[in-house]
Amino acid sequence: MKALTLLTSLLPALGHAALNVTGSTCTVTPLPATGTGKEPDDTPQILQAFKQCGTNGKIVLTDGLFHIGQIMDTLSFNNVDIEIHGTLRWSSDIQYWLRSSLPVTYAGRSTAWRVGGTDIRIRGFGTALFDGQGQLWYDQNRGQSNQNGRPISLTLWHAKNVLIDGITWRQSQFWHTFVAYSENITMTNLDMNATSNSQWSTWNSNNIFLQNWTVTCGDDCISMKGNSSNVHISNVHCYESGCAVIGSMGSNAAQPDYVSNIYYDNFTCTHSSNAAWIKTYSGTGYVKNVTFANFKFTDVNQPIYVTPCIYSSSGCDSSRLKISDIRWINITGTSRYNIASAIHCSSAAPCDGFLFENINITNKDGRTTDKYLCSNIANQAQSGIPCTGTCPASWPQQLSGNS
Ligand SMILES: *[C@@H]1O[C@H](CO)[C@@H](O)[C@H](O)[C@H]1NC(C)=O
Ligand SMILES: *[C@@H]1O[C@H](CO)[C@@H](O)[C@H](O)[C@H]1NC(C)=O
Ligand SMILES: *[C@@H]1O[C@H](CO)[C@@H](O)[C@H](O)[C@H]1NC(C)=O
Ligand SMILES: *[C@@H]1O[C@H](CO)[C@@H](O)[C@H](O)[C@H]1NC(C)=O
Ligand SMILES: *[C@@H]1O[C@H](CO)[C@@H](O)[C@H](O)[C@H]1NC(C)=O
Ligand SMILES: *[C@@H]1O[C@H](CO)[C@@H](O)[C@H](O)[C@H]1NC(C)=O
Ligand SMILES: *[C@@H]1O[C@H](CO)[C@@H](O)[C@H](O)[C@H]1NC(C)=O
Ligand SMILES: *[C@@H]1O[C@H](CO)[C@@H](O)[C@H](O)[C@H]1NC(C)=O
Ligand SMILES: *[C@@H]1O[C@H](CO)[C@@H](O)[C@H](O)[C@H]1NC(C)=O
Repeated sequence: MKALTLLTSLLPALGHAALNVTGSTCTVTPLPATGTGKEPDDTPQILQAFKQCGTNGKIVLTDGLFHIGQIMDTLSFNNVDIEIHGTLRWSSDIQYWLRSSLPVTYAGRSTAWRVGGTDIRIRGFGTALFDGQGQLWYDQNRGQSNQNGRPISLTLWHAKNVLIDGITWRQSQFWHTFVAYSENITMTNLDMNATSNSQWSTWNSNNIFLQNWTVTCGDDCISMKGNSSNVHISNVHCYESGCAVIGSMGSNAAQPDYVSNIYYDNFTCTHSSNAAWIKTYSGTGYVKNVTFANFKFTDVNQPIYVTPCIYSSSGCDSSRLKISDIRWINITGTSRYNIASAIHCSSAAPCDGFLFENINITNKDGRTTDKYLCSNIANQAQSGIPCTGTCPASWPQQLSGNS
């Protein structure tokens, strides 16, 4: 076979080139240390490999440490296998990332790596590690939540038929993964731990299947944003902060937001703020046909929560964003305070088709009986929710004690 070797960098003395193209396979090895104290940048070779072998090809990033010093905007993959064995470490040049991160249209967010195209398989074999050096971001970002320019680690963007398997994220810069304008995405065996902040979210996306995740996070672990449908996520363990969330969505009243056919199955939530939540702005559109099944949790602040007016005290009863056909099945665990569920629906568009089945939430103190607060739930009597009182529109997202 004809082998063409591209020597894209210095130091041929090491005996191998950073990029080796053999037929339709591009193999990238990390550059050796520069010896000057300045980190090498492996991004050019990786981008070259993506370009040369990204169509009907295979790209292998070998073992070792790859320094990622630049954004990667790779939107035209077509039938490619990307195998990552080593570590990708994004650079600590915060000013560069703030300046250069690629925009994604959701709420001013941006990303370090956009992946798009069709038939893309990215495998990490359980050894690939994405290191965002997030601590630097958590430190400099103190006090601000969604800083503009702070990059999401990996974004699937206009991507179709994608498999991502076996990748570990540590200290992600911001949210781990964001999926937008995409279809038929499968993500399996992922492990994410950013103790200060993390989130997985989708937006305008169809057919997403996620299996076998461990996630530690500071925001919501897994959240579904506007216009996402046919999403199935199973076998997830979330530590700290949020667990399974729909929203926030509906933030722009002029733009309807639709979320439907979401199945969250087999979640474990440890010390989380929530177990199974729906939180929308008072907008238009709908959330319908959502199932939260087989949840186990320990010491959760407010296990079940529904609000049509997140982050605002107005619009709670005028929101026309309808929330319907939502099921909570086999939900077992301990609440931190005396609230098992707080559901306030808009009186202008009452919730309908709510179902509680086999719910066993006990207070972690073992003595207090939990409350189930309900407002504006149509067909409440058929819902199986053991309502103990009403839920005020101003009910908070986070509780700080018994109520
Ligand atoms: C490039 O890869 C091919 C196939 O794996 C291998 O035979 C060849 O030795 C490599 N060349 C260099 C310079 O590393
Ligand atoms: C969805 O993507 C997977 C690869 O992850 C592929 O095997 C499957 O054929 C795709 N399904 C459709 C309907 O295209
Ligand atoms: C996540 O990382 C933090 C800090 O590195 C560590 O203390 C914690 O044990 C990790 N959590 C899990 C579930 O691995
Ligand atoms: C997820 O984990 C379960 C239980 O360990 C296993 O049976 C299943 O094959 C895993 N799924 C994938 C896609 O690896
Ligand atoms: C549920 O998810 C956990 C991982 O959080 C996994 O170990 C377990 O096998 C899953 N159970 C089933 C029935 O798939
Ligand atoms: C959701 O989709 C609808 C219909 O396609 C579109 O009008 C609306 O702008 C989308 N909403 C968002 C938030 O993108
Ligand atoms: C509800 O969503 C599930 C997937 O979670 C899907 O299988 C089912 O067909 C949906 N039902 C309707 C009426 O669309
Ligand atoms: C609820 O749990 C029961 C008993 O473990 C199980 O048979 C049933 O399939 C579960 N329901 C769902 C929707 O997963
Ligand atoms: C509810 O869960 C607690 C443990 O959290 C358990 O002791 C109790 O037996 C369960 N009740 C039912 C009816 O399953």
